Amino acid sequence: MTDPVFVPLAEFGARPQESVQLYRPGARTAYPADVTARLDADAAVLVARYPEARSALLPLLHLVQAEDGYITPAGIEFCARTLGLTAADVVSVATFYSMYRRGPTGEYLVGVCTTTLCAVLGGDAILDALCAHLGVQPGGTTEDGTVTVERIECNAACDYAPVVMVNWEYFDDQTVASARALVDALRTGTPPNPTRGAPLCGFRETSRLLAGFDDDRPGAVSASGVGGEPTLAGLRAAREAES
Ligand code: FES
Repeated sequence: MTDPVFVPLAEFGARPQESVQLYRPGARTAYPADVTARLDADAAVLVARYPEARSALLPLLHLVQAEDGYITPAGIEFCARTLGLTAADVVSVATFYSMYRRGPTGEYLVGVCTTTLCAVLGGDAILDALCAHLGVQPGGTTEDGTVTVERIECNAACDYAPVVMVNWEYFDDQTVASARALVDALRTGTPPNPTRGAPLCGFRETSRLLAGFDDDRPGAVSASGVGGEPTLAGLRAAREAES
């Protein structure tokens, strides 16, 4: 029998590219009455979709992230009070999922995939180049508050590697040069359309959509489209292998 392996708990903390824990100095700790009333109304819509209120925690975390740009103590307290949970319950979920941010986020969250396929096809080089170009570390935000760059894991778009995501929309087949041009366009207020999917909107608007509210922008839903040729080629190969 092999010896058990013990992992020291002290090694766990914030995600590697983040410099802060959830309770960040200066973060909002309470919402004013008008914001609470607005969030209460939105939360009621979301909670009503589930047989048990606590099942609405993930949408509510997106809702408070839409309010603050990240998960603040005020957002944690709001979710806990609304759903009858403890703050510890809320924090344990918020820290499990990497889509919930622990610090202020730029208007555009630029995620560079550095999981294996994207990495070997240029993802690592793209991340390094963007950080150098913008003067930030991974997880950091530009001084003008427009762009946050972070390392992300596979987003199931490996057939378009290397992939960069902006507010969770896909920019496929990126190079160092195209990724630099992308962030330059974001910073000058001329966001290009994603390779697939709806046009970009700001990080907070995206968080509200992820909470489960409709995207009312004209053409946004129909822009989702169908699978592209690399995806369909993979599907054909899988079917041939089955037969
Ligand atoms: S490895 Fe990058 S999308 Fe899958």
